[in-house]
Amino acid sequence: MGKIKINHIFKIYNQGQDNEVVALNDVSFELDEGKLTIILGASGAGKSTLLNILGGMDNATSGEFLLGDKDVAKYSFKELSNYRRNDIGFIFQFYNLLPNLTAKENIDLSASIVSSPLNTDEVLKLVGLEKRGNNFPSQLSGGEQQRVAIARAIVKNPTLLLCDEPTGALDSKTGASIIKLLYDVANVHNRTVVIVTHNSEIAKCGQRIIRIADGQIVENTINEHPLDPSEVKW
Ligand SMILES: Nc1ncnc2c1ncn2[C@@H]1O[C@H](COP(=O)(O)OP(=O)(O)OP(=O)(O)O)[C@@H](O)[C@H]1O
Ligand SMILES: [Mg+2]
Repeated sequence: MGKIKINHIFKIYNQGQDNEVVALNDVSFELDEGKLTIILGASGAGKSTLLNILGGMDNATSGEFLLGDKDVAKYSFKELSNYRRNDIGFIFQFYNLLPNLTAKENIDLSASIVSSPLNTDEVLKLVGLEKRGNNFPSQLSGGEQQRVAIARAIVKNPTLLLCDEPTGALDSKTGASIIKLLYDVANVHNRTVVIVTHNSEIAKCGQRIIRIADGQIVENTINEHPLDPSEVKW
């Protein structure tokens, strides 16, 4: 997979009607490979819309979405399906684990849809849950469930890990450990990680901070000295 580059993306809901919403208004940026990028913005700014487009779950109304020399915006249904399956790991605010499968089974299921997954036990270890693989989600704390969700995304060995408010449901200490884990996934394991948040303190942990307001990028800066997540004031 090559570099990810978004060029002049627009997303317009209900186009031409009186309830038209311009959710993304001429958005352009590049993602740094093997780094943690944080997209910061208030509720309704367009963060989830942007993440869903990056994840191949939604189409932009216009603009380019380059992946190396390919334009994902022009992908067929089948190509998009393969992209979601093979290239993307997605982490949601409320984990979305299957309640009747154990932690390990949740991860195995995700591994089973790709051709060269990582080893489930190794990934469980990576997220610090090697002893909890046989527990069901209801037997795990919120932070542990989010670790399983991260493991489930990582086991696919995706190039791009997309996280929509991954600490929104967690207390500050657990949240900090999750941000630290995602930072390490990027920097130690060389994945491109994007976290969306409305929390400007969490944003300081990113190596690139992209601020979005009313569907437009209002700031895009490299952060030379990312804040250690344990220092975040939530
Ligand atoms: N399917 C849709 N149809 C119409 N408007 C939509 C749709 N999805 C999102 N919007 C609108 O697009 C804008 C951006 O929404 P989006 O969900 O991307 O915001 P967000 O930054 O993720 O907000 P939050 O922090 O609350 O999750 C909002 O005004 C929203 O109401
Ligand atoms: Mg959202």
